[in-house]
Amino acid sequence: MSEKIHKIAVIAGDGTGPEVIQEGLKVLAAAASKFNFQYQTEIFDFGAQHYLQTGQTLTTEDLEALRRFDTIYLGAIGAPSVKPGILEQGILLKLRFAFDQYINLRPVKLYDQRFCPLRDKAPEDIDFVVVRENTEGLYKGMGEFQNKETPSEVAIQVSYNTRKGIERCIRYAFEYTRKRNKKKNLTLCGKTNVLTYAWDLWRRTFEDVAKEYPDIQTDYAHVDATCMWFVRHPEWFDVIVTDNMFGDIITDLGAMIQGGMGIAAGGNINPEGISMFEPIGGSAPKYTGKNVINPLAAICALAMMLENLGETQAAKTIEEAVIKVVKERLKSLAAGKMGYSTSEVGDLVVDNL
Ligand code: IPM
Ligand code: MN
Repeated sequence: MSEKIHKIAVIAGDGTGPEVIQEGLKVLAAAASKFNFQYQTEIFDFGAQHYLQTGQTLTTEDLEALRRFDTIYLGAIGAPSVKPGILEQGILLKLRFAFDQYINLRPVKLYDQRFCPLRDKAPEDIDFVVVRENTEGLYKGMGEFQNKETPSEVAIQVSYNTRKGIERCIRYAFEYTRKRNKKKNLTLCGKTNVLTYAWDLWRRTFEDVAKEYPDIQTDYAHVDATCMWFVRHPEWFDVIVTDNMFGDIITDLGAMIQGGMGIAAGGNINPEGISMFEPIGGSAPKYTGKNVINPLAAICALAMMLENLGETQAAKTIEEAVIKVVKERLKSLAAGKMGYSTSEVGDLVVDNL
């Protein structure tokens, strides 16, 4: 419990975003009264509809408005009615960059063996966290076309990596591994054998920072091998640190082995600033408005947000309620197959708080 009133900006967004956010807000209200904390929310309507009506994704004034909040709770961005990339870059990536949310934290945790596609893997085998760098690498948007639309066209896409950017990410990962206090093992996931500029700097930085954390074991895995081990030996991992692009890819694989997009949550974190929490699954257009999408990823994102706001007990209790609902009630974690509707799953979590 804290005295502070948490100011939460809510961007429900596109597709099933609003449906899952609604369930998250239901759980938030229940948790606030149970754990006695106060909060205010304000809904922002950024997304496809707003863009189609106004031609704007996110303006400087919008960013200024968001700066008045302690945190951001995001549903999903992206819709078939808008050309791919416009909303993703204009809203989601813009927010990550504007608020310098340099960590993308993605826990990969299996709650129930029934929902794991890997044979013989149980919850104790799949419990690790990916720390993805979130503001640099290939996502920086650096590059150019040469000889555009001619037979000799060249497209150059640059991976931009700064010592500072890498170091703050790696340092966060070491601190996180220490605090997590499980295997105390941090794996650097990269591609030192091919990307010899970027990954040489990552490797050197990792080795330098590691000296300050003698209590943490370290190892290194190439990104392709990491994919292999996620499937073969997920129990080897504790915390993994990687760049933006590799982190994007391996966390989708991670989401699958933890039971799918219905349960996978993430945090875009600026440890010194405004963070943003989201289910990582996207807007799922084909399930929109049907009350069938799984809201648990959004509810897990809410728990991560509360943890980040210092409401540790509420966060823990929400996660425990989610685990109970997953284990005792749900037939599946997939949209339309849960045995319950979206709003019923939200109610079940509230009942189990
Ligand atoms: C994610 C998403 C985004 C990313 C897209 C929507 C821009 O896939 O959060 O992982 O690539 O980071
Ligand atoms: Mn992704």
